[in-house]
Amino acid sequence: MDIISDPDDMQGRARQWRSHGLKVVLVPTMGFFHPGHRSLMEYGRTIGERLVVSLFVNPAQFGPQEDLERYPRDLDRDVRLARDAGVDCLYTLGAGAMYPPGYQTYVEVESLSQGLCGASRPGHFKGVATVVLKLLNQVSPHVAVFGEKDYQQLMVIRRMAADLDLDTEIVGRPIVREPDGLAMSSRNTYLSPEERAAALCLYRALLAARELVASGARSRENILAAVGQIINAAPGTRIDYVALVDPTTLQEVEAIRGEARLLLAVWLNQTRLIDNTLLSESLLCCV
Ligand code: PAJ
Repeated sequence: MDIISDPDDMQGRARQWRSHGLKVVLVPTMGFFHPGHRSLMEYGRTIGERLVVSLFVNPAQFGPQEDLERYPRDLDRDVRLARDAGVDCLYTLGAGAMYPPGYQTYVEVESLSQGLCGASRPGHFKGVATVVLKLLNQVSPHVAVFGEKDYQQLMVIRRMAADLDLDTEIVGRPIVREPDGLAMSSRNTYLSPEERAAALCLYRALLAARELVASGARSRENILAAVGQIINAAPGTRIDYVALVDPTTLQEVEAIRGEARLLLAVWLNQTRLIDNTLLSESLLCCV
């Protein structure tokens, strides 16, 4: 596996691959790999001939009061895990290489970035869209793979790719969970044992919503009431948002017609966790 840490070198390598007709896949990450990241790499491996994983903890997507400094990092472990997963190139660079002195260009995906996580994290999706566009320009992948765990992020990136005529296919992959259902996240390492136990309320709330829909419930009011009750009953929780939205526009819906997405963001003391699930009228049993 190659490790590249300079944008020009990355661009040069990608051009070579493309000129040999090789299909290039990019999995963008901020590192501290877990099985969620691994699943994206494994998928990338199956669909492409060259797999690049980028590892960049992007300062532009963290607010001034957020966890940029304490965000978990372990490059040696990530190198081993990427090698194990069959990654061809780990592309990891420092903030100064991504945003050299004088840097001043940002991308904004307007409405999709405003609500939900965008409301509690102003500027977050501007930072995400900007870095992802830069990574796409540096790696020129045929396909870029993202997790549905960060559902709003996936929609923002899809919109950006369509609006800016990008020549990269954006693929979303399912959420990978711990055996008890907690969605895998680098931020789970912040949780104390008590918070870890309480964090299961997110998954329990999603399951309860799926069961309600499977038994015929359709209204936003019924579903959100049940979800709120489960989360509020867990110790140390504070709901940031619970939203039932159209899966593409992320606009709130009053009832499930066809498909909707239930999105959650919940504080567990100082740690903010997100999760989501698809709710569909054709849901017959809970998964
Ligand atoms: P990061 O949080 O490291 O996540 C990298 C990718 O892994 C994202 O596409 C995310 O949705 C996916 N992912 C995380 N947890 C997952 C899980 N449990 N199951 C499936 N996929 C999961 O998201 C980012 O980094 C950054 O915002 C980035 C896109 C790299 C831009 O900086």
